[in-house]
Amino acid sequence: MDFRHQTASPDALGGVAADALVVVLHGDAVPPGLDPAIASVVKDAVSHGDFQFKAGRTLYLHRPPGLRAARLVVSAAGGANVKAFRTALANALGVLKGGGSKHVAVAMGAGGECTEQHAEAVAGAAAEAVYQYRQTKPSAPAGSVLSKVTLLCEKEHVRDVQRGLVRGAAVAEGVTLARELANMPANFCTPTYLGDTAKQLAKEYGLKVDVLDRKAIEKLGMGSFLAVAQGSHEEPRFIVARYDGAAKSQAPVVLVGKGITFDTGGISIKPSAEMDEMKYDMGGAASVLGTLRAIAQLKPRVNVVGLIPSCENMPSGHAVKPGDVVTSLSGQTIEILNTDAEGRLILCDALTYAERFKPQAVVDIATLTGACVVALGHHNSGLFTADDELAERLLEASRASLDPAWRMPLEEEYDEALKSNFADMANVGPRAGGAITAAMFLRRFTGKYRWAHLDIAGTAWKSGAAKGATGRPVPLLTHFVLAHAS
Ligand code: BES
Ligand code: MN
Ligand code: ZN
Repeated sequence: MDFRHQTASPDALGGVAADALVVVLHGDAVPPGLDPAIASVVKDAVSHGDFQFKAGRTLYLHRPPGLRAARLVVSAAGGANVKAFRTALANALGVLKGGGSKHVAVAMGAGGECTEQHAEAVAGAAAEAVYQYRQTKPSAPAGSVLSKVTLLCEKEHVRDVQRGLVRGAAVAEGVTLARELANMPANFCTPTYLGDTAKQLAKEYGLKVDVLDRKAIEKLGMGSFLAVAQGSHEEPRFIVARYDGAAKSQAPVVLVGKGITFDTGGISIKPSAEMDEMKYDMGGAASVLGTLRAIAQLKPRVNVVGLIPSCENMPSGHAVKPGDVVTSLSGQTIEILNTDAEGRLILCDALTYAERFKPQAVVDIATLTGACVVALGHHNSGLFTADDELAERLLEASRASLDPAWRMPLEEEYDEALKSNFADMANVGPRAGGAITAAMFLRRFTGKYRWAHLDIAGTAWKSGAAKGATGRPVPLLTHFVLAHAS
């Protein structure tokens, strides 16, 4: 996708050459200073009941009088914030979908703001509008023909818009990579495939990537990770990817992504309904790779390490059994009471491994619990950390990137639930507060650095008709990393 900007004043859009002109309108009336040709069309449509200044409403015209553009879409945003703008733009692109518009010009409308964030939102909405999964469905329609988007803004905003488009394009590429990986079925997207994808990123973007196989993981002593991996014929991988953008002396931000390429539950097997969706149990890993891709494209002065433990969780004659006790890389022993609580078992060893980088902060990202989906639904990712300052930084990144997260409690009282008579801890507590006890489990491995956990079980995937991966939380993570650049 080609993103451009062009100076144009909202009162003179008639000369804009594009296949379609999109005008996003805020507020509840035709703004003064809007191009008269468009203003009269909107007023006429309002008077005939065909358009309202209400979020979600759109108006489409073919060969609009007085405009050079072949099509006009007017889209109401309701509020004047970036989120409302992005939704209105997505609605307008939805109207154009399936049509012949290759080049769309987007006008902010009179009185509307034109900031870096708006420009970033344009890139995000456009990439989302054209995304089409084709990996294992080559017969799928070629998505949209949209290939060029021009943002129309006034001269004083050109620099902001330029910066926003560059960042938005990079984030969008990262989101797309994460979606592709999480959408791919588990017989394609194996731990080996994830490792190869990381190596490919290394080649294309100059990342440093090491992919460890089962032998190397054994040598490290990751007994907890290996206990999950042992039930499957599929070889596990531990991916270590680095982006070095700053001096060696600068402590890195470490991102740890859960990479279960398929979660059957193991011996504690899941019900078969919707089990197919458990191919996205590597959504955390996908978001780490997507973020690394976005960062490598933007080249900020910051050091980032991505760690991905990846395997399948399968039942078999070799599988780990309820009651088995394993020794983690940290030396702490774990009684595996439920083999379906496998995410924490692979993450804990990666979190211990993270110590060697002396990180300034570690964030793990995981489709960790159904309980988090019950608590927060599909809108907010769950944010868990005992570190108020780190929480604020992540929430700020979440707001700036329109990738919502909600802070959940993480207090000593919840730790009780993990007591075991046979090991240092059990891998599950009672059902109540399941997302929190999962985070408390991870916390036992994170004493040596500042740490936060994102539970993305509800946000990395959409069920229903639009079933598929969302690419979240790549926008949040990319913004978080960028904020650490010197
Ligand atoms: N991958 C699942 C969590 C999940 C559930 C992700 C639904 C996306 C949608 C995780 O490994 C799991 O099975 N968690 C269990 C934990 C329980 C056994 C304590 C769960 O949430 O039921
Ligand atoms: Mn599970
Ligand atoms: Zn899982």
